[in-house]
Amino acid sequence: MNDSPHMSRRKFMESTACAAAASVGGPTMVRATETQKLAAMGGMKAVTEPLPQWIRWGEPESDRLDALMEQSSLFYWNGPQTTAFIERFKRHCATTHVQTCSSGTAALHIAVAAAGIGPGDEVITSPISDIGTVIGVLFQQAVPVFADVESDTYNLDPRDVARKITLRTKAIIPVHLAGNPCDMNQFRDLAKQHDLILIEDCAQAWGARYRGQQVGTIGQAACFSMMNSKHITTGDGGVVASNDETLGPLLQRFGDKGTDRVTREPLQWLAANYRMSEAQAAIGAAQLERLEGIASRRNRLGRILTQRLNELPGVTVHREDAANRATYWFYMFRIRPKRFRVERSELVKAMRAEGVNASAGYIRRPLYGERMFQDHSFFANTWPVRDSGQTDMDYRKVKCPEAEAVLRTGIRLRVTENMTDRYVEQMALGVTKVVRHYAS
Ligand SMILES: Cc1ncc(COP(=O)(O)O)c(C=O)c1O
Repeated sequence: MNDSPHMSRRKFMESTACAAAASVGGPTMVRATETQKLAAMGGMKAVTEPLPQWIRWGEPESDRLDALMEQSSLFYWNGPQTTAFIERFKRHCATTHVQTCSSGTAALHIAVAAAGIGPGDEVITSPISDIGTVIGVLFQQAVPVFADVESDTYNLDPRDVARKITLRTKAIIPVHLAGNPCDMNQFRDLAKQHDLILIEDCAQAWGARYRGQQVGTIGQAACFSMMNSKHITTGDGGVVASNDETLGPLLQRFGDKGTDRVTREPLQWLAANYRMSEAQAAIGAAQLERLEGIASRRNRLGRILTQRLNELPGVTVHREDAANRATYWFYMFRIRPKRFRVERSELVKAMRAEGVNASAGYIRRPLYGERMFQDHSFFANTWPVRDSGQTDMDYRKVKCPEAEAVLRTGIRLRVTENMTDRYVEQMALGVTKVVRHYAS
């Protein structure tokens, strides 16, 4: 089957339809299988296809590590591995200033600090994200402000962001959740209108495109994670990049203890050591060569799931705008609980019995629901900006109803690039069997 990322949408639909027919015996066969007994009740499992081994690294990485062993230094500055990594990264994500760093959290902290965000400044972001999105904001003594999300992409909702903008707002951090691009035109307009900095959290969005444009090239700064579970990885690691001529040149300093390694100017701002070593950059440079294959494959698998789950009763699929390319770090659909005879946990259990790697929701609670927010206990049980009157933010009063509903009603499916079309078709069949069985 043609896996080309350039396949037209019509061709893609035709080819996945063929794949479905070939893999499960055509539409009649699908219906017959759907009515079979659930695996949880002694029926046959929907997923019988073995999952091919997930090969994430090999010769390209070991070649670079061999070269690394010939080097006399493993330090990043002017290192050949870091240089190769940056050059490849720029080919992938067209940016002029790139700093490798130790994590996605570090990338975000560097971006926020380089943007000049400080005590009492407000930064609007999504409550459905990894805590790493706001750690840097908090360390800058700035105030994360949570806006609600869209019901079907689970991304930050520009309309609610607009409502949350105040005179203290300095930046917006849209998070391209699960590799599904945010509505960046809206955010770009809002940022322009209110003179705000746009920092893209691309930690889960390697290879994703917004209307043909690589995510990370739209805002003033882009932050990527290379933590172990991400599309490409260095075990742990991150990249922060920018095309902005004010913020961009500061990324290196904020990733490297405030030191400008070219000018050696006196230290002007406090900054942490977030450096990435040459060993990680060597792996990263090789991983970047794998990226396009991984991204296009995950996009295809996500679209197959959408196509198959779209018409199911009581289900809302993970919406991907047809003009974009989502790279599905995970796939999450939502259920309308009233349409089912059992709880979400029972549905998940039954799907797992079918051999589908399904889980309930994503993070356990919206970020503002975490104890450190509820108690405002960030720094040794204090929060200096609040205690000194620079903000009156009270996270106990924050409510993002859609985000809370998404986390209550989402069912997340694991998607990895080693899954064959056939495997994903069978996953969809497993979900279908369970949904049809329990839908009332
Ligand atoms: C959306 C998002 N932002 C930030 C981060 C932080 O990245 P890291 O774990 O590399 O620090 C993650 C990690 O999972 C993430 O998913």
